[in-house]
Amino acid sequence: MGNILVLFQSNTGNTAKMAELVAEGAGRVPDIELRLKSIKEADVEDLKWCDGIALGAPTNFGTVPWEMKKWWDDLVDKNIWPYMDGKIGCSFSSAGAIGGGQELNCMTLNVILMNFGFLVFGITDYTGPGISAHYGAVQQGEPRSDGEKEACARLGQRLAEWVSTYIDQNTASHPLKQNYKRLPDEFKQRKS
Ligand SMILES: Cc1cc2nc3c(=O)[nH]c(=O)nc-3n(C[C@H](O)[C@H](O)[C@H](O)COP(=O)(O)O)c2cc1C
Repeated sequence: MGNILVLFQSNTGNTAKMAELVAEGAGRVPDIELRLKSIKEADVEDLKWCDGIALGAPTNFGTVPWEMKKWWDDLVDKNIWPYMDGKIGCSFSSAGAIGGGQELNCMTLNVILMNFGFLVFGITDYTGPGISAHYGAVQQGEPRSDGEKEACARLGQRLAEWVSTYIDQNTASHPLKQNYKRLPDEFKQRKS
């Protein structure tokens, strides 16, 4: 039974909507226990509990908002590093604009996770025309189209697949053994 924490900050609700979709996607994988929590609700026990984390925050000036940074900064005196090694992590972010720095923010969120020993990943799939989550799920505002919603869900699903594969050692959960659509038809046409 793999434990997944979707941990997020959201000031106006956009990242919160992404978080719900990420959690929904993680729930597609059997035998996964889920917690969906904002940084106002979560504490260090949630971090210790999880085998995988999806970490989400709005983009503020191209980087992590101070509230999320403080949440992690405040962990320092709790000495949690010995409990964190080898968990799996990924990130997601909403910004006001396309190209508003979502990927920079995701990379910074990933760096925080790496500091604690998380194995971080991106995904190659396209979930709609021109929609990927290569460095984490990214969004302008809230997810609206099916492809945008699926990008968030796919991130959670992939996290759950990796947790199932590497933590629970269910080799059948490996992403390459799943048969969902990974590339849009237009991409296949371009290649042929
Ligand atoms: C202090 C501050 C800084 C922001 N910086 C950026 C930015 O660098 N790029 C951008 O596109 N949007 C920026 N925004 C807009 C938010 O990222 C955007 O509204 C986001 O969707 C909010 O997510 P939330 O609803 O989860 O809080 C900023 C907003 C605030 C309040």
